[in-house]
Amino acid sequence: MDFLECSLLFLLIFCFTYSIWFIIYRRTKTSAPTNWPILRELPAVIGNIHRVHAYMTEVLIEYGGTYEFKGPIFTNIDMFFTCDPANIHYIFSKNFLNYPKGPEFRKIFDILGNGIFNVDHELWELHRKTTMSIMSHAKFQILLERTLWDIIEKGLKPILDAFAKQGKDTTSAALTWFFVLLAKNPSIEKKIREEIQQQLHVKEDENLKFFTKEETRKLIYLHGALCETLRLFPSVSLEHKVPLDHDILPSGHRVSPKTRMILPFYVMGRMETLWGKDCLEFKPERWISERGGIKHEPSFKFPAFNAGPRTCLGKEMAFVQMKIVAATIIHNYNIQVVEPENVYPTTSIIMQVKNGLMVKVVKKV
Ligand code: HEM
Repeated sequence: MDFLECSLLFLLIFCFTYSIWFIIYRRTKTSAPTNWPILRELPAVIGNIHRVHAYMTEVLIEYGGTYEFKGPIFTNIDMFFTCDPANIHYIFSKNFLNYPKGPEFRKIFDILGNGIFNVDHELWELHRKTTMSIMSHAKFQILLERTLWDIIEKGLKPILDAFAKQGKDTTSAALTWFFVLLAKNPSIEKKIREEIQQQLHVKEDENLKFFTKEETRKLIYLHGALCETLRLFPSVSLEHKVPLDHDILPSGHRVSPKTRMILPFYVMGRMETLWGKDCLEFKPERWISERGGIKHEPSFKFPAFNAGPRTCLGKEMAFVQMKIVAATIIHNYNIQVVEPENVYPTTSIIMQVKNGLMVKVVKKV
């Protein structure tokens, strides 16, 4: 082998080793999907479909909150992902009229027909007005309180009592992320229990009595814990929008009527830039103001109940319901989640616990 052959061989080995190192380095160092010929970024999505929310979080964090996904050529499934609060504020409020949910959303949720969740424009406005007037009526609120207590007394309590008597594992789809997070943070559950006893004037060994919507307002720490749950596990994990017209977002990105926009609320709750270094920790204190009330976070930073004119109409009602149910369960029972470290979300838009939640219910009072 002469000098030239030797040099070529060395160069070849160097290039080969460098390519292997580069591929491995890229795989471990970056979440960015590889842009392949023809299929473009689809393989990365398929490879991560079982952990799609976590994957979206990694990519969006790496790209500063906005990412343009490229689907296979000729398929028209390119998508625009953004969880930048300035964009969220712009899309949901400032330029609301340019961002209806679009016909694709309607196709996915065809089962909901022409209901408020599915429609846009004039039909949505009509639905919104009618629904608001029903929900704000005093008789409706009273009926809601009564019905909820009826369901707890006749439905929830007997079921949990029966399971508790049988001191065995069970699967329950009714228990939420709130209980998963409490299982991982027993000191927070203790604080909630103490708050219930103090604010509702009930002793540890005494049954919880009927308490009203007004009384739920005293449960500030519980409220913070529920907000914190929705920050980490928003029930609606993402939103979908299609621009009517060409536009430029506050981030400088251009969008057109062909852009399918994904607004991942799950990712927004896990952005260090929005919530600080401890963003993955479950801290109800994050929501308590210096004066001891609930700290307001703008909906374009905390969009668990949506933002802008299409904000959830049932937000306040949802908190009343969640507080009554959570306080009843926490005061009366010990909910022991089986292997809380191995509980994962489903990949669906509505974020549920994958394969249901295994819990052991122990009666306290
Ligand atoms: C923790 C509980 C809840 C959460 C996290 C939540 C969240 C949301 C979100 C994200 C939307 C927007 C959905 C979309 O546009 O695709 C929404 C819409 C809505 N929610 Fe809720 N919701 C909750 C409970 C409730 C309850 C209890 C009610 C009524 C009793 C309710 C009534 C509505 C209505 C009527 C809309 C449609 C608003 C519109 O399109 O103008 N929600 N909710």
